[in-house]
Amino acid sequence: MLATIITPLAAQVPQHPGRATNFAERPAIAVGVAWYPEHWPEARWDTDLKMMRAAGFNTVRLAEFAWSRMEPAEGRFDFAWLDRAIAAAQRHGFMVVLGTPTAAPPAWLTQAYPDTLRVDENGTRAGHGGRRHFSFASARYRVFARRIAQEMAKRYGHHAAIVGWQIDNEVGPPSFDPESVAAWHKFLKQRYGTIETLNERWATQYWSQHYDDFDSVPLHATGQQNPGLLLDFKHFTSATWTGYVQDQARVMRPLIDSRAFITTNTMFWNSGFDHFQMHRDLDIASWDNYIPDGRPDWVANGANHDLVRGYKRRNFWLMETQPGRVDWVPVNRALDPGQVREMAWQAVSHGADAVLYWQWRSAMNGQETFHGAILGQDGQPNPILPEIAQTAKGMTAAATLLADTQPTAKVGMLFSYDSRWAIDIQRHNKDFDPVKSFVATYRPFRVASQGVHILSVDDALSAYPIVVAPNLNVITQAQADRLAAYVRGGGHLLLGPRSGMKDDANALWPQRQPGPLGDLLGGRVSQFYALDETVGVKGGFGTATASLWAEALEPTAPDTQVLATYSEPGGWLDGKPALLSRAVGKGRISYLGAWLDDAAMRRIADDLLAQAKIAPLVPSAHPDLEISERAGGGKRVLIVINHGKEPRPLTPPSGARLAQGDWANGTMAAHGVALFNLGK
Ligand code: GLA
Repeated sequence: MLATIITPLAAQVPQHPGRATNFAERPAIAVGVAWYPEHWPEARWDTDLKMMRAAGFNTVRLAEFAWSRMEPAEGRFDFAWLDRAIAAAQRHGFMVVLGTPTAAPPAWLTQAYPDTLRVDENGTRAGHGGRRHFSFASARYRVFARRIAQEMAKRYGHHAAIVGWQIDNEVGPPSFDPESVAAWHKFLKQRYGTIETLNERWATQYWSQHYDDFDSVPLHATGQQNPGLLLDFKHFTSATWTGYVQDQARVMRPLIDSRAFITTNTMFWNSGFDHFQMHRDLDIASWDNYIPDGRPDWVANGANHDLVRGYKRRNFWLMETQPGRVDWVPVNRALDPGQVREMAWQAVSHGADAVLYWQWRSAMNGQETFHGAILGQDGQPNPILPEIAQTAKGMTAAATLLADTQPTAKVGMLFSYDSRWAIDIQRHNKDFDPVKSFVATYRPFRVASQGVHILSVDDALSAYPIVVAPNLNVITQAQADRLAAYVRGGGHLLLGPRSGMKDDANALWPQRQPGPLGDLLGGRVSQFYALDETVGVKGGFGTATASLWAEALEPTAPDTQVLATYSEPGGWLDGKPALLSRAVGKGRISYLGAWLDDAAMRRIADDLLAQAKIAPLVPSAHPDLEISERAGGGKRVLIVINHGKEPRPLTPPSGARLAQGDWANGTMAAHGVALFNLGK
């Protein structure tokens, strides 16, 4: 069955909107680990589970790669071992998350049905021995995937230990097999209706690209292709992966406890599909947070969490994180002592209701024997265990305080997959990385305001006095209309460079940037320039430098203010406006045409926050201190994390009571974490 013709079953209605799960009687914060009982003799299980309990864990995730154990031959199921593993976990008091094993098809499947194997863009078919080697569009693969998911749901759907289900594992790589090509043609037909429309939207008169029918459109992800095709490729992979995950969710949902969540664990800024779309019909978001080089940048990592929170605008699960180090980068440096705890609390401060480590004990062989694990190969603790146990115990102790609270924010930031992809497809300056640009804009707003929510362009914005869209390159008329309504209603919208340039087929808007928002702004971009050296900018915020990208702006309405201009030695840019702003209705729209240095962006953020009367929770906090608030259920909790190696002064807001942590005499310990109860 094709991705695009699947009707998804809607996500569950949250009964406890302030929490990630609907099991109100369960601990509000889950702490635990990925446990692979199939790697170990059953006689060892009790020892492991006892050690996990002693470490303070209350949750295990099981089964996600165990397809060959659960279905050792086609249609022959063996769940007896899993029955015993789940029963053992339950006996020891654990909540259980079960993973469907479809990221790792067994050899019997791919040998008997090689058509289910993934084919890369060069035409090479994958083989057995790794994982994610199936085609996301294979109807046959989906039959097998649905069947194993359904068998699991039938057997365990109402098991009292199970709180949630994870479908597959880190989906993402597309396939270029004949079935994917056929699905692509069907997708395009559904999207455009007629081939004439596709030709028009992609402007295929250019280079004689004209197509006579959908079946002649090639499937490409890269290369010198029409930008319309390349963006639609991303729309296709989004629809296909979403359909793939929903295909399993649909058969599971009727068989499982209605309170149990269905999720899929995702990665970083994975560009394989639109994550907002993927999560529309899932219950919660969950993701895998790794610090590959072992050198955390807390602000950038906070943006990762805020993005994940934004998929559902609801608390999420941190499904995996590293107990020290990873094993998949050139130098797999371990986090410093204290940082594993810091990263776990950072997740919670940004809205995670669960922190699960990957993994308990590494297998004796296989691709990941060097990855960080809590136990060594001898079954004895690695040096990280005491730190993880301290974290787990702190979290379970804070569960009642944190229950039903969610991260607060006064600033909304818009992340658009379409815009990111469109810029990546035509960067114009190779160093203009849209994710880096997003994080560079997030940084000053997060540090200054101490809370940012990342949202999709289609979300409700009225709760946020300030909304920042760093590079809203792709925008539809409907989205422009909603943003205009937000501004007229009293919000301040700050658009960054490259905004309002393209429509959702990656074609230029006929009017210059910001396209359908030009009239609202009372201004436009007269020309954009890729920079290979910096250009000076002068404005009310002082002097700044622009790098990588600068747009010469031009007011078109008498009441549009020029707030900054380019200075020497800009050439084409000399004296041209770099920042425009206009009051409209009860609100304001501003357009910044350049990628400015961090210090200038911080001054701009401070200025906007002051105008909107948004004060930080803790003024003048040291840059190593991350300040966050979770509120809800009649509670407000301040979470402070010292990401630095030195103790730092911290004066909590008046009336704050220390609930737990490493704060004493006005000082946060190095790598310290502290929770304060702020009352109502
Ligand atoms: C991913 C996967 C896990 C494991 C970890 C290792 O997140 O989901 O199965 O491979 O990476 O970092």
